[in-house]
Amino acid sequence: MCGIVGYLGHKSPIPLIVDSLRHLEYRGYDSAGVAYLDDENLLRIYKASGKLINLENLLPPELQLRQLGQNGNGHRHIGIGHIRWATHGAANDTNAHPHTGNRSEIAIVHNGIIENFYEIRQELQAKGHVFHSETDTESIVQLLESIAESENDFCKVILKALTKLDGAYALTAISKKHPNRLYAARHQAPLVIGVGQDVNGHPEYIVASDAVAIVQHTNKLIYLKDGEIAEISPEGLRLMNFKGEIIEPVIETISTDPLTIDKKGYKHFMLKEIYEQPDIVRNSLSGRLKSIHQPIWLLGDTPEAETLFNAFLDTIDRVVIIGCGTSYNAGLVGKYFIEELVQVPVEVEAAGEFRYRNPFISPRDLVVTISQSGETADTLAALRLAHQKGAKVLNLTNREDSTMAREADFVMPVRAGVEVSVAATKSFTAQVTALYLLGIALAEKRQAANPEQLEALKADLLKIPSRIETVLHNTDALQAMARKYGNTRDVLFIARGVNFPVAMEGALKLKEISYIHAEGYSGSELKHGPIAMLDSSIAVVSVLTKGTVFEKMISNCQEAKARDARVVAITNTPIPPALQNTFEDILEIPESLEQLSPLLTTIPLQLLAYYMAEFLGKDVDQPRNLAKSVTVE
Ligand code: AGP
Repeated sequence: MCGIVGYLGHKSPIPLIVDSLRHLEYRGYDSAGVAYLDDENLLRIYKASGKLINLENLLPPELQLRQLGQNGNGHRHIGIGHIRWATHGAANDTNAHPHTGNRSEIAIVHNGIIENFYEIRQELQAKGHVFHSETDTESIVQLLESIAESENDFCKVILKALTKLDGAYALTAISKKHPNRLYAARHQAPLVIGVGQDVNGHPEYIVASDAVAIVQHTNKLIYLKDGEIAEISPEGLRLMNFKGEIIEPVIETISTDPLTIDKKGYKHFMLKEIYEQPDIVRNSLSGRLKSIHQPIWLLGDTPEAETLFNAFLDTIDRVVIIGCGTSYNAGLVGKYFIEELVQVPVEVEAAGEFRYRNPFISPRDLVVTISQSGETADTLAALRLAHQKGAKVLNLTNREDSTMAREADFVMPVRAGVEVSVAATKSFTAQVTALYLLGIALAEKRQAANPEQLEALKADLLKIPSRIETVLHNTDALQAMARKYGNTRDVLFIARGVNFPVAMEGALKLKEISYIHAEGYSGSELKHGPIAMLDSSIAVVSVLTKGTVFEKMISNCQEAKARDARVVAITNTPIPPALQNTFEDILEIPESLEQLSPLLTTIPLQLLAYYMAEFLGKDVDQPRNLAKSVTVE
């Protein structure tokens, strides 16, 4: 997490850096800061705890308007900026980045975690360095200043320092002694450099954690790889590996238009993104599910990629799906669907667990990593582990330019569009849709299901978007429920079968944006422990769908009601009148095939979480303690 930005060019750096940081706020919003070298070559640092707006309010107005250094000493205009998601030390002004050393000579911003920071800190303290913050980052900058005492080449200073660091980092640094130079290094955290020109044709460089912070200035990008360092100066850009050997930079021209981040009249991004879901599913199906009589076209890009992937699918005898959080929950829906339809074993693993055990993975496995951002540290590490074990990886991602998409063997973009709200909604439905397509494609290839069954699934899938619209057009009951249950302390979500992961996702949504304690369980698990919690103060939100487990779920709801819990039903089939008194509230949603119902049952749970958080006055789009892209483990 954390977002870093660096600029070298002829423009005023601070407004540009602050604007770029705005695009990185999804990575953290605990504090923000900027540093630059002024006309007298003094290092100036401004930082403020809380959201970026606090930093903007702190900056002197003239700093934002004036062309910094325009009349100065001929230095280019250089600066760095940071948006923080706290790992070491509270989210206060002191711990905010940029950090500098005791001589205020060097400033750095850092994303990642330095695991041996304490040892470095102790070593430097013994040499007289005085530390001011609780961060791991300060150890890096103090180390740089210490090495710089006897080494003039700042690139060598950084390279020496990097050999002493354990952990993950992307960092950008500036130094008073080298006022025309901007440095950027990457090891297990994303970093990209934009190579552009200002209106006068002067070259300019923007370093950032994510291309979204750059694309409004240039679409020419260099994606740093792990173990690479860039030295940027008026003479150009020098790329090296950590041994100091020169590497030829690869400049990619990306087609992304500058991203407009706009709520489009909705109160929050989360609500806007929930309402985008019918179109997201349409988008996701478009070109892949052309008609119910044609086979699914998965990867879309080129016939070669499709042929290669199809040939590989012929060889697999297991699917292993890996993800975190919402992406993990989407993977679970995939397991229920694919295993039942294709009769191939499907495992789902939380990436953070997978990467630290010695999992059995074989070249005959299809490993599917799911990640909205494509940068989640645990999922990326899991992808690499799967590669080490000889498996081929298919990455389902919303970011085709992400590290995972670059490293995977096959990529299936989920096409959810930019998701700004920290709580994932449309990316979940897009991931689930992609998994349905993968399952149907596999079934087609293996003739695992009869053509009528596959046609029925495809026909129903094509109807999902308009059914989601129906749910979205009828939110009065959900808004009333949100007011009714808004002050409930604990909410249990229960479901069974393919909707069990939906219960988990409903609970995740509610807890992350409302801070109400919520858990998702299989209805069958209730009696194995959670039922002990039930009394009249607890709400149990149940998902009941027509099909194999409807009656089982009814029994589970009755068990909850018998313990005085306030039971709510989200159902796609009428509840028989004799059973209606089991429920305090019943919300009916459109019917679909049981296997595909998660695409519909998820929507009211997202809305319920949204309206409850809204009712409680929470910061829906940027909930406390969270960040959109989790690039630390
Ligand atoms: C979902 O609402 C979360 N904020 C979170 O669980 C997220 O899904 C998880 O961090 C994984 O992110 P990814 O999809 O970008 O890998």
